[in-house]
Amino acid sequence: MTSIIILSDTHIVAEGALAYGHSDTAAALMSAITTINTRLPELGPVEGVLVTGDLTDFGTEEEYRRFATMMQRLALPWWAIPGNHDRRGPMRSVFAGADWLPASGEVNWQRSFGDWELIALDTLREGAHHGELGDEGLAFLDAALSRIGTRPALVATHHPWMASGIAAMDADNLHDGAALMARLEAHPGPVRMISGHVHRTAFAQIGRVPCQIVPAPCHAVHLDRRPGAENCLALEPGALTLISHSSEQGFTSMQVPVGHVPGPWPFGEV
Ligand SMILES: [Fe+2]
Ligand SMILES: [Fe+2]
Repeated sequence: MTSIIILSDTHIVAEGALAYGHSDTAAALMSAITTINTRLPELGPVEGVLVTGDLTDFGTEEEYRRFATMMQRLALPWWAIPGNHDRRGPMRSVFAGADWLPASGEVNWQRSFGDWELIALDTLREGAHHGELGDEGLAFLDAALSRIGTRPALVATHHPWMASGIAAMDADNLHDGAALMARLEAHPGPVRMISGHVHRTAFAQIGRVPCQIVPAPCHAVHLDRRPGAENCLALEPGALTLISHSSEQGFTSMQVPVGHVPGPWPFGEV
């Protein structure tokens, strides 16, 4: 069995600032890193951490430097795709030389883990909040799927295709998600889609493709499905997502809370 951890929507801001005036995203990221490092022996072998977009809040070099400095404490390698709050230019200048980062163009990449493949897709449209793969992303996906044949694929995006019922978020979903799903439907091996952006856990089965949205270590998008509801953040408990693959069960997903919780205690104790 091989595993990776998904860390999404870290929204790092400048030193001393709170995201949206309320969310200490740096403290949340540090807590997430500590959680990963201390829980690693219990979680089994983990290959690395995938950051599914919105690494920073404003996409400045200062924010990426702060993010990179904090991630130096992580006991695992990490890789990333951009979200709508990111900017490719500053990402490239700060993360230059990272083995997952293409030298130019959109940040699409593929990585092999034992008996499965991770296909990470850039859905950022700079200047817009919605997501789109566009011709470059779809061409990359076509080539990657054809290369991997029948091997299982985890396809990661920042923007999801599935709806959450939170109107303001759903409006900014992956606008060409139908084109993505048609390709995943046609993949001859097992496939799963995983996304960020909504900062909370959600799951849907769309056709034959399980689609999952993962939580953030910091604030959540408040769950309010009333028509016209104002889009708000709430300081729900943060979480990480452990994705594992085995030949017997395919992909499994487990949520890991960020921070220290009381316990563990043996069930046999009274
Ligand atoms: Fe986000
Ligand atoms: Fe986002």
